[in-house]
Amino acid sequence: MRMRYLVIHGPNLNLLGQREPDVYGRDTLADVDQCLEDWAAQKREDGHDVELRTMQSNHEGAIIDAIQEASGWASGIVINPGAYTHYSYAIRDALAGVEVPAIEVHLSNIHRRETFRHISVTAPACVGQICGLGWRGYVLALEALWRNAQDGMGVA
Ligand code: DQA
Repeated sequence: MRMRYLVIHGPNLNLLGQREPDVYGRDTLADVDQCLEDWAAQKREDGHDVELRTMQSNHEGAIIDAIQEASGWASGIVINPGAYTHYSYAIRDALAGVEVPAIEVHLSNIHRRETFRHISVTAPACVGQICGLGWRGYVLALEALWRNAQDGMGVA
């Protein structure tokens, strides 16, 4: 069975590499997406049918549209909602409204930063959250979604 994943990078993540490099590192978004493509390519090399789509948007509505559309094709979503994490009930409702398991990823450890970042309103609509592990968090999230599906835990 083909496993299809959508990775959503939220607002300001297009600036990775230039944006607060002491917090987010020097890798660009293209570098991160390449690592994720490498993960998918390795899966295919291992004989698994895996497809990956990545997108970045600075717009809440575009992220919501992508989540809703993913319900028609995706086996899993990996999402870094950026600052929307902390206040977007609309993105939370979109995640809760589709039967596609999602994992929330943050490059930085949001729990050791400003207090407003300690709250995620979107994580309760996800299978789980990974933070503080940089770009590897995305790879770990994809691997977890893939393994959960292999174990028959496709829908959270
Ligand atoms: C972030 C953490 C958020 O608090 C912040 O607004 C971001 C990036 C992260 O990946 O660490 O834009 O989601």
